[in-house]
Amino acid sequence: MAEKFDVVVIGAGAAGMFCAALAGQSGLRVLLLDNGKRPGRKILMSGGGRCNFTNLYIEPAAYLSQNPHFCKSALARYTQWDFIDLMQRHGIAWHEKTLGQLFCDDSAQQVVDMLLNECRAGQVTLRLRSEVSGIARADEGFVLNLPQGDISAAQLVIASGGLSMPGLGATPFGYKVAQQFGLPVVPTRAALVPFTLHKPLLEQISQLSGVAVPALVSAENGTVFRENLLFTHRGMSGPSMLQISSYWHSGEYLTINLLPDIDPLAFLAEELNAHPNQSLKNTLSKILPRRFVECWHLLHGIPECTLKQLTPRQQQEWVLALQQWRVQPNGTEGYRTAEVTQGGVDTRYLSSKTMESSQVPGLYFIGEVVDVIGWLGGYNFQWAWSSAWACAQAL
Ligand code: FDA
Repeated sequence: MAEKFDVVVIGAGAAGMFCAALAGQSGLRVLLLDNGKRPGRKILMSGGGRCNFTNLYIEPAAYLSQNPHFCKSALARYTQWDFIDLMQRHGIAWHEKTLGQLFCDDSAQQVVDMLLNECRAGQVTLRLRSEVSGIARADEGFVLNLPQGDISAAQLVIASGGLSMPGLGATPFGYKVAQQFGLPVVPTRAALVPFTLHKPLLEQISQLSGVAVPALVSAENGTVFRENLLFTHRGMSGPSMLQISSYWHSGEYLTINLLPDIDPLAFLAEELNAHPNQSLKNTLSKILPRRFVECWHLLHGIPECTLKQLTPRQQQEWVLALQQWRVQPNGTEGYRTAEVTQGGVDTRYLSSKTMESSQVPGLYFIGEVVDVIGWLGGYNFQWAWSSAWACAQAL
């Protein structure tokens, strides 16, 4: 005889733990399964160990999906303020770092402990190191095959995440379940991911590895982010590059403005006034790291002259070069280092109110496995919380 549960949630990550806890607290008998040996592994890794758990400025425009409207309902019904309230009820101190990004003061472990405590309050049964080898539709729900024996579930929630960071337990399980039940999967690709560069440029800028500069980075579709750019030994990373990676397609160029916060011609005029015999290189070193200036000289040739010798045309040229640096990435580092997976279960086949499959009653998909991703900065966890909450209301 199969062991019986009202709800089985597969994936004890952010979305799965939260949904299981809420369902349990509403009186349902809930089983939460995960393939790993600990729950919430990505939460623990996130935000440099402090978990950037939400953002003050959550809005649907910060999310990407083939259907940009899909995320609206869940995000509006369970907001960042609701999650902040939950954190406060558990006595977890937090702070805003930048751009509305909220982090734990202490450790991401507090978020995992909070979710586990919520699961305990809902008497959720948690089974780790559990992999489902098969799922079949039954008269009243689903039968799941596990090595320990079959389990029957009236309702099934898939919260197994995307493909990013296989080292943290990511598998294509959720996409396979979707396909088994006839739900299409929007093709996936790595997002919020560092770029790799073609060899010639990579060799030219190799000495910049570890240097960070503020930058305004634009994709060919016009999307722009102004955050730091970090040079790495493989290419380019940092928040501006991770953000723009979600909008970049193979073969496209990025345009990088390395002087996002100053009026360079006004700056030059002031410097010319104060230090007419200063070299252009030394002048540039006042607004950019010296290592970068040396490297830029190798790339683009900074005129070897003093400010008073610089012609207006030369001024225009170097300003333009720094403001419109066009770079064609070779590719990205892929799922190995990506924070999220773009694409996933096609939202046209899910209810935006409940996350339930429109064709298979009782089957739900929540969190990153769905074709919804957010910007860097707490937006992806908020999607996990909001979609989990929306689902739990319907169970
Ligand atoms: P998640 O991936 O969290 O959980 C899925 C769970 O399912 C995992 O526990 C996995 O082991 C399990 N699983 C997979 N296959 C299975 C199978 N076959 N059987 C059983 N279980 C299975 N976002 C943000 O908003 N702020 C941040 O600071 C960060 N930081 C960050 C850092 C790093 C290093 C990464 C990789 C990602 C982030 N993110 C983030 C993104 C965020 O972690 C991500 O969007 C959410 O964890 C998604 O939550 P889910 O619950 O949908 O999937």
